Amino acid sequence: METAQARESTVVRPWPLGLPLLTEVRRDPLGAMERFHAECGDVAHLRVLSTDLYYLFHPALARSVLVDHQDIFTKEERTLDIFHTVHGANVITTDGPVWERQRRILKGSFTLQRIEACSGLMAAAADLGISSELPQRGGETSLIDVDRFTTRITMDVILRALFGYRGSRSREESDAISGAVRALSRQVMREFFWPVRPSSWWPYPGRADKHRHLELLRGLIEPRIRERRGATETALPPAADMLDLMLAARDEAADAESPALTDEEIYANCIGLFGAGHDTSASVLAWWIGLMAAHPDVAERVREEARARPGVPGSARSLGEAPYLHATLKEAMRLYPPSAATFTRKATREAHLDGLTIPCGALVVIPIWSLHRDDRWFPAPEVFQPERFLPGAATVPRGAFMPFGAGPHVCLGQQFAMVEMALIADRLLQAYDFALPRGTDLPVPRVELVLKPASPLRVEFTRRH
Ligand code: HEM
Repeated sequence: METAQARESTVVRPWPLGLPLLTEVRRDPLGAMERFHAECGDVAHLRVLSTDLYYLFHPALARSVLVDHQDIFTKEERTLDIFHTVHGANVITTDGPVWERQRRILKGSFTLQRIEACSGLMAAAADLGISSELPQRGGETSLIDVDRFTTRITMDVILRALFGYRGSRSREESDAISGAVRALSRQVMREFFWPVRPSSWWPYPGRADKHRHLELLRGLIEPRIRERRGATETALPPAADMLDLMLAARDEAADAESPALTDEEIYANCIGLFGAGHDTSASVLAWWIGLMAAHPDVAERVREEARARPGVPGSARSLGEAPYLHATLKEAMRLYPPSAATFTRKATREAHLDGLTIPCGALVVIPIWSLHRDDRWFPAPEVFQPERFLPGAATVPRGAFMPFGAGPHVCLGQQFAMVEMALIADRLLQAYDFALPRGTDLPVPRVELVLKPASPLRVEFTRRH
């Protein structure tokens, strides 16, 4: 890492009031981030109204905040408050002892054994998506809006994993939930950039729709929790879904005062898992399909790897032996990380990070987008090169690649997402050739709550056999 002096000299003069800055960041978070990095180097210090804001563009500094000084840097209250209006109090919208308790209770739903048990339903969701939306006869081609397509599949996966849905009957409900979750994510993103937080009773923009979507989600989810409550009290069913697990889970801490999750906490975590667990994987898969379409040679190499793989084709176990497929997914997440620009922490007291002093109350942005596209760690950063992630490739500093975050809040669903994405990607690639329509390129990305294509990403799917 460069010396602290070199980094200190890159701190920019805070702009008066900083509101133009806020507007710039809201309009184009990625462009603003790139500008701050180019102009300031490893640290950009800005001031918006009375708040100090630090963008940390060096992986060691970013990790220092998330891992080494996790006791000082907490999730930021304003962001938590905004999420709280949608989610309630769950593992995503809390910090401190409330979060610790929920995380301890929930982690049992995300063990490798549980995830492997989910692989059948992940495959079933992919197969349903394929059979209902993609061409079935060899040589047939359809033009697909891939983000919509992958969103449907990953929503289906999370509904099956959470509520044990089976078959295609859930399709309407799945679309309704997906639409509501997405609209709420957009609203959260919008509120995120308002200089003032409106009271819940103000007629602020988007309020009526927000309430409508929240009511829809509550109406769909609450009855399921109530129905199960009695049944799960005694013994866990053999094919337990996450709702069963949440109802049965107990806090392992010896002195736990309230060992079980309440119905309201379970509801809040269902909303949290819908949001965190489907749009993220859907976005990575959408970009991955776009990249495969733009790089047919890479797609072919993934298929060759599949042909040489031992084990039952397409099974979660055989996919454990698919380094190149995993490398393509990681490279897609490097170029298009879902949490590209929305990752912040707040200093609860003054912090000293290798010579850089962050004052108490300052906000720190972990600029994943820029970290992943830094040519010091990723030469030719704009180029899609899955080889960067193959065993034996040059090592990059810790923190240079962290699509799932780091430290105690690291993504709870990381392994779930990797198994899910590999299973779906493998199935799609075995059955289809992908191509971008003639004369088109990948759309530019846009920061919604996760990174989405700014215009529809359309890909031609041709059935291989
Ligand atoms: C490619 C897919 C995914 C990506 C890139 C991703 C990314 C992230 C990131 C960056 C965080 C950390 C946020 C922070 O520290 O402030 C996070 C947290 C979280 N993720 Fe994921 N995620 C993905 C998929 C999933 C899935 C599939 C689930 C659940 C089924 C999930 C559940 C969660 C939860 C519950 C948290 C909160 C953890 C905590 O604060 O303790 N994620 N995710």
